Amino acid sequence: MIGVFDSGIGGLTVLKELVERLPGYRFIYFGDTARTPYGTKSPETIIRYAIEDTEFLLRHGARIVVVACHSASSVATEALKARFPEVPIFEVVTPSVRKALAVTRRKVIGVIGTRATIESGIYERLLRARDPEVRVYGRACPLLVPLVEEGWLKKPETRMIVKKCLLPLKMRGVDTLVLGCTHYPVLKRVIQAKAGRRVTLVDPAEELAEEVRAYVESHEALPLEKDGEPLIFVSDLTPAFERVARIFLGRQVKLLKAEDAPS
Ligand code: DGL
Repeated sequence: MIGVFDSGIGGLTVLKELVERLPGYRFIYFGDTARTPYGTKSPETIIRYAIEDTEFLLRHGARIVVVACHSASSVATEALKARFPEVPIFEVVTPSVRKALAVTRRKVIGVIGTRATIESGIYERLLRARDPEVRVYGRACPLLVPLVEEGWLKKPETRMIVKKCLLPLKMRGVDTLVLGCTHYPVLKRVIQAKAGRRVTLVDPAEELAEEVRAYVESHEALPLEKDGEPLIFVSDLTPAFERVARIFLGRQVKLLKAEDAPS
């Protein structure tokens, strides 16, 4: 199976893109709803959680691991690759960096994400390593996560907060904006409206899914199961999580408790 993990339910935006591109394959998803959010935690804690999330997926049949969570991708990728050298691990930052560099017109790139993602400085490091002329401006927008989870996608309050979040980036004249958090693709319309139509948005869920699709299709020998509904496990289950899952996946899904997973 293709394994995907996130700090919670937001990573279903990535699962949705993956299922669209690889409809014949079987997926297992783990959302760490008991310990979410990761974006406010220290790198040490996020690394520990990311290792445990990966172990869960591997224990239950994943052959490839996709890190959907930006906070985990930003701070835990090296640790995961060192800990699981035999497992193909995909993360969300590298494909977004590639896309941002491909589309920027004036080499002024903005990145929004959680505190953990922005404070890690990963986007700035990777973007400037590939093109030293690029200017990168990061902005943590932690308020957007609860707004999305409440389903406040079109409320005036949400528009106002998005506008405030983006203001410093607009003042810097960014021409490209990376949506560096699992939750932001759901707010794409509002973000585009407030960023201005001349700003190109990079949706990391799409870029990551495309990278995984290319890898899977060029590695036919991989022992990946085919068919079947995605298995979506969470470390804590409430009716609210099922409601939120619908926002991200665009359809009703059944969430399963991780402790009930067959071992
Ligand atoms: N999944 C997280 C991310 O993409 C957002 C929610 C959280 O802070 O855990 O960074």
